[in-house]
Amino acid sequence: MNDSKRELFRNLEKFYPPKGALRILEVGCGSGANFEHYPTGCRITCTDPNPHFQKYLKKTMAKNDHLVYDSFIVASGENLKAVEDNSVDVVVPGYAEGSARSKESSEACKFMTVSA
Ligand SMILES: C[S@@+](CC[C@H](N)C(=O)[O-])C[C@H]1O[C@@H](n2cnc3c(N)ncnc32)[C@H](O)[C@@H]1O
Repeated sequence: MNDSKRELFRNLEKFYPPKGALRILEVGCGSGANFEHYPTGCRITCTDPNPHFQKYLKKTMAKNDHLVYDSFIVASGENLKAVEDNSVDVVVPGYAEGSARSKESSEACKFMTVSA
């Protein structure tokens, strides 16, 4: 699993903005198991509808100090109004991978400055 995740996240390099850090939004971050695969210096915004993940997230964030954490937002993928428009470069759908519903996909796209 870790090998396939590493391979998947290698593609993130394509989405770096011309200036500044790569900004990632992970929707359905859980306890942050993907963080170790994100490239050094990325800025992370993460969401999950379950607020109880926050205490586990804090531990994962402490372990992955190669990243900058912008915010954790309690929200489901179907309602991401709390995330500012054009505020990220990449959206990682961290739940039901590969089967995000079209409503969520279009909701997520408005945050991105580049279409990933
Ligand atoms: C299998 S875990 C994956 C966690 C992490 N993304 C990873 O890859 O390790 C799925 C996560 O999606 C969250 N989730 C469930 N329904 C969701 C929804 N409608 N919108 C966003 N996240 C959701 C769960 O709370 C859980 O944290």
